Amino acid sequence: MKKPWSGRFEQATDDLMIRFSESVSFDRRLYAYDIQGSIAHCKTLQKAKLVTAAESKQIIGGLQSILKEIDSGRFEFKLEFEDVHMNIEQRLIKKIGSAGGKLHTGRSRNDQVALDLRLYLRDEITHIERALKRLGRTLIGQAKKHVNTIIPGYTHLQRAQPVSLAHHLLAYVEMLGRDRARLNDMLKRVNVMPLGSAALAGSGYPLDRHYTARLLKFPAVTHNSMDAVSDRDFVVEFLAAASLVMAHLSRLGEEVILWSTSENKLIELSDAFSTGSSIMPQKKNPDPAELVRGKTGRVYGHLMGLLTLLKGQPLAYNRDMQEDKEPLFDTVDTVQMALDVFDGMMKSATFKPQPVASLEASGFLTATEIADYLVLKGMPFRDAHEVTGKTVAYCLKQGKGLTDLTLGEFQQFSPKFKKDIFDFVSIEGAVDRKNVYGGTARNQVREQLKRLTKEWK
Ligand code: ARG
Repeated sequence: MKKPWSGRFEQATDDLMIRFSESVSFDRRLYAYDIQGSIAHCKTLQKAKLVTAAESKQIIGGLQSILKEIDSGRFEFKLEFEDVHMNIEQRLIKKIGSAGGKLHTGRSRNDQVALDLRLYLRDEITHIERALKRLGRTLIGQAKKHVNTIIPGYTHLQRAQPVSLAHHLLAYVEMLGRDRARLNDMLKRVNVMPLGSAALAGSGYPLDRHYTARLLKFPAVTHNSMDAVSDRDFVVEFLAAASLVMAHLSRLGEEVILWSTSENKLIELSDAFSTGSSIMPQKKNPDPAELVRGKTGRVYGHLMGLLTLLKGQPLAYNRDMQEDKEPLFDTVDTVQMALDVFDGMMKSATFKPQPVASLEASGFLTATEIADYLVLKGMPFRDAHEVTGKTVAYCLKQGKGLTDLTLGEFQQFSPKFKKDIFDFVSIEGAVDRKNVYGGTARNQVREQLKRLTKEWK
């Protein structure tokens, strides 16, 4: 097979080298963007009078029929043509003859691949942003059902203070909201048109780059040809944002795993989003959550890999850059699938709240309330903390919960305790007293639900 660079070469490429250097086995995924970019480039060549109207028509027609061939699986990608760009170009030349050979005028695969990646990524960012939105809305839907469901909130995985389950779920909606904002923000850096930069120095032909940008709906063009062909920081930025999405999902996944233990029994996953054991018949495992937790490491790895790939490269394009694609593609697939699976898992899950009485009996969730009570009665907080600590120690020794204490027992620790202390040790009272903006008081949570329902429409 004749290579596009065969003019300068005497020997054929070694088979091993062909297999080593090809990228078409994975970059074929870019074909539609490659063709879209080539059509815009062809129109720009025509505007610069480098191809005639008739040639342009032939080239665009040829590209469109190649698109159909690939779409329908009739196109044969060949390893010898290395990558998606040369496979399509060679096919075009074969199809329409010498006019096809004019398409690569004023262009290099270096600016071509930069363009393809940007076109691809701006589409995928939109898809992922939509998947984030779906999952956020699902969590909002579950939160609406559980404003009044009270669960223990934890720090250090030790029972800390009671919170509304809705408040807990909406914490994740906040995270996903920032993930969406990050993706939307980075779009303006992805959405910059590199074509016309050619190999590195810029094209020697009078190409109207702003015209190409308009054709491809790019609001901006790159300002420096050397930067344009060697910049992949927009990919790093995406991998970083994707890593945070995965971090958030992994944390939620960890909660789902803990919540579904027999010890907690706070959530029951649907059969559709659980798996069983091949040996233990009683098992129902939260595998989607575990897999997402595991796949998070894989996405972090891609981010580190790309950062490392870039750090030693002098300007401008180096072949190392070809290694940017598999981590990017795998990240897109992984994040998209993780979001979709979590949406299904959370939508079909059932929360099984514990009765408030059992929360009161265990874990001293309202101990802070007792300290706050004493503060309201005029005691400095540090003293109140000490008195309450002694009260808790007494309960532990006696095997009692805070709600089991009589007023007389409370008063052993401070004369400031009066009958109204019993309102303070109630779980619901404790939740509703966190009535600052952003707190877990149920009326605050309802306010946030109202705001989020509007914002996530
Ligand atoms: N397949 C290559 C890549 O993905 C395309 C650019 C190749 N350019 C070159 N001069 N070899 O980076």
